Amino acid sequence: MQIKKYLYRFGYDPTEQALSQLESKYIFNTEDHNKLLFSDIKIEPSSSAFLKSRLDIISFSEDYSTLIQEIKKEEIHIEDFKIEYIVLGGDTTEYDQRLEKLRDIGYSIEGTPDYHHPKNTYALCFYNGIWCFGLYIKNKYDWHKHKEKPHSYSNSISIHIAKALVNIAAKGNKEKILLDACCGVGTIILEACFAGYNIEGCDINWKICRNARENISYFNYQSIIYRADIKDIQKRYDTIIIDLPYNLLSTASDKDVLHIIESSSRITDRLIIVSTSDITAFIHNVNFDIVDFCQIGKRGKRKFSRKIWVCIKNKKVN
Ligand SMILES: C[S@@+](CC[C@H](N)C(=O)[O-])C[C@H]1O[C@@H](n2cnc3c(N)ncnc32)[C@H](O)[C@@H]1O
Repeated sequence: MQIKKYLYRFGYDPTEQALSQLESKYIFNTEDHNKLLFSDIKIEPSSSAFLKSRLDIISFSEDYSTLIQEIKKEEIHIEDFKIEYIVLGGDTTEYDQRLEKLRDIGYSIEGTPDYHHPKNTYALCFYNGIWCFGLYIKNKYDWHKHKEKPHSYSNSISIHIAKALVNIAAKGNKEKILLDACCGVGTIILEACFAGYNIEGCDINWKICRNARENISYFNYQSIIYRADIKDIQKRYDTIIIDLPYNLLSTASDKDVLHIIESSSRITDRLIIVSTSDITAFIHNVNFDIVDFCQIGKRGKRKFSRKIWVCIKNKKVN
């Protein structure tokens, strides 16, 4: 029997499902099923807003007593550990049986448990006829601290979208060099820095740039912010993220939108664009193809939606 190394659990509300699946496609090359995904790709749950946890599978078996033997063979010696039971869809194990199973595993590990301040948490689950045991890594949601950044901006994108954009842009690869072409106060940059990605920012407005720099240094992150019109950036990037200006604070005419997309297209072969309107014609105008698209609604605002466009340069066109 073959099994992947990691089991990821997802959490998202219906308005975010399409975005989570797009992110998942670029991190794992596949989508979750019923909010679960087995993969050999390792990623920190905290780098996504939609990953609740990762189970690093140590032992597995279709037969429960074989599983316990397998765990014993691992000879785990650890202090201050805790074991949790993850109830997945299709698992009908009763509560008292679950507790008994946790006790079996506890006796298979050498060391003293600490239920309140564990240094390591293990977990047991049953899925599709297989018992899985492993180290349990949860999303700590410590990135929520970014909500307390010194400067915010009414046009800022949500943290959930920002995290997804970074993952779609970098595809989980920390070597990629990213640019946030219209960075505003740096919402996307904070999430990229938090996850350990290599990103720079650019914004035409000096005051907004100053605020972005202050936000970044407030959390002791490092990222270069260029106070510039994107047309004046010469360096090349693996992927450029563009959160296009819209509404009262950063109005943009079709000419401005084309200017930003056109200028960005000169210095990258890959664009991830966020817009509130249909920009298909602009993307084709600069000889890029749309390879993925998703739309995210806002809870309680039926008419407002953000559109995300994943685009790559069409190399066939001269
Ligand atoms: C929607 S806001 C970005 C918000 C940002 N994602 C955040 O969360 O703070 C768009 C930004 O584009 C900037 N902008 C407009 N035209 C630009 C240009 N030609 N080059 C660079 N930045 C530009 C505006 O100053 C504005 O801050």
